[in-house]
Amino acid sequence: MLLSGILVKLSRLIKGKMKLKERVALGTFLMLLVIYVFLLTKNRKKESKFTVWEAKIVHEDSLDKFQQEPKAELKVEAAVFPKQQQKDSKEEFISNEINRLRLEFKDVQIDDVKNPFKVAASWVNERQIYPSEHPEMSAILKTMSTAKIIHADALPKGTQIKLLLSLEGGQKVVFKQKRYERDYVITGKPYDGYDRHNAEIAAFHLDRILDFRRAPLVVGRTINLRQEIMPVATERLLKTFREENGNICYFGMCLYCKEKEMACADGDIMEGAVVLWLPDEWSVFQKQRHPYQRTYVDGRYAQWERDETYCNRVVKKTVPYDRGSRLLDVTDGTVFDYLIGNADRHHYETFKDHGSYVMIIMMDNAKSFGNPFHHESSILAPLRQCCILRNSTWIRMKQLQNGVLTLLLEEVMSNDPIAPILHPSHLNAIDIRLTILLETVEKCIKEHSKEKVLLEKWDGI
Ligand SMILES: *[C@@H]1O[C@H](CO)[C@@H](O)[C@H](O)[C@H]1NC(C)=O
Repeated sequence: MLLSGILVKLSRLIKGKMKLKERVALGTFLMLLVIYVFLLTKNRKKESKFTVWEAKIVHEDSLDKFQQEPKAELKVEAAVFPKQQQKDSKEEFISNEINRLRLEFKDVQIDDVKNPFKVAASWVNERQIYPSEHPEMSAILKTMSTAKIIHADALPKGTQIKLLLSLEGGQKVVFKQKRYERDYVITGKPYDGYDRHNAEIAAFHLDRILDFRRAPLVVGRTINLRQEIMPVATERLLKTFREENGNICYFGMCLYCKEKEMACADGDIMEGAVVLWLPDEWSVFQKQRHPYQRTYVDGRYAQWERDETYCNRVVKKTVPYDRGSRLLDVTDGTVFDYLIGNADRHHYETFKDHGSYVMIIMMDNAKSFGNPFHHESSILAPLRQCCILRNSTWIRMKQLQNGVLTLLLEEVMSNDPIAPILHPSHLNAIDIRLTILLETVEKCIKEHSKEKVLLEKWDGI
């Protein structure tokens, strides 16, 4: 009714027939209409503001509730506040990882796990030395560290003094003795110095944290040489034993083993790391030259050192790196070796006669953690040049950034029988190196895209 009245008046206005009184009434009406609409929209805005404010109250309420009864409320809360979610999931990640990796040597009874070495032997397959979840690890490492030594020999393999020990029950372990204090800094070439027994231990735990599962089991052990080794030593080993200033020393048998460079105990007590020998079925290795091998000759450079296109031009076109798991194993190895500062992986081993899907075994990591103040960038070359990495490795590196990696490493190494394993300067170095690794991969992603860099499977170029 009102509308039709207005329309009639409007048409009369247009036709110029409207009276002055009617014009004033219409103008007033239109003005009121505009004011009404304005107020209406203003009210709407107020209403929405109120909703936000109310939501905040609701959030605080649920937070209170959450503190009393956790979990269910958390998801809602986290969805609204992504920052909070990040913090919660980071804390959850850390506590889950500590549960997965923690070692309890004091509480564990060796009898808790029936035949720990059998368990360890059953773990091995072509892609792992041990599984991701490994609650039996404490019992296995404790047995390695305490079982009676029934036989001792020199291990003539390689360039460094090593002992091959048989433990009660027949399990073999390799013993790498201490040669440096924890704060000793190796200078010179990136591969200089003797083996570092503590580095072998730290590298194993890093392998567990990265969830690569490709390094043999290692634990610290102190041995009374006079009581535990000399009575069960082979003739050829015993011949290298000497006594110097009241300390028992030996030089073993190896390429660089000589009497002038003996390893000496503290009195009769020698500290070292024991590395678990792999089961018979998995002890035959295919040894291969690493595509990023150094020349080990001053002034002579390998192809990869002279040519940044080496990976794309050569490696990616060469069997077994042209497709499959091997090149991704190489770049995983780069992540590992850069973190531990190992510039000495001139060869690598895989399992012989177990197919082409076999992993690169991360064995012999003792030439690492030499200089915490130097981050050897040449180790990065495979990653920098090939620009491919397992997506799972990338995700893990991201989870471990901002100190999470070193927090976990420190925690899991703290119960080793010869802890502390690493000087704090080395933990600091790992944090710096992880950041540099992430930057290296990010640069690759920027240049080539995520899809080309982060892979689970490499099908070749
Ligand atoms: C990498 O893995 C994450 C988590 O599983 C997934 O969301 C992402 O799409 C993957 N990226 C690539 C490039 O495959």
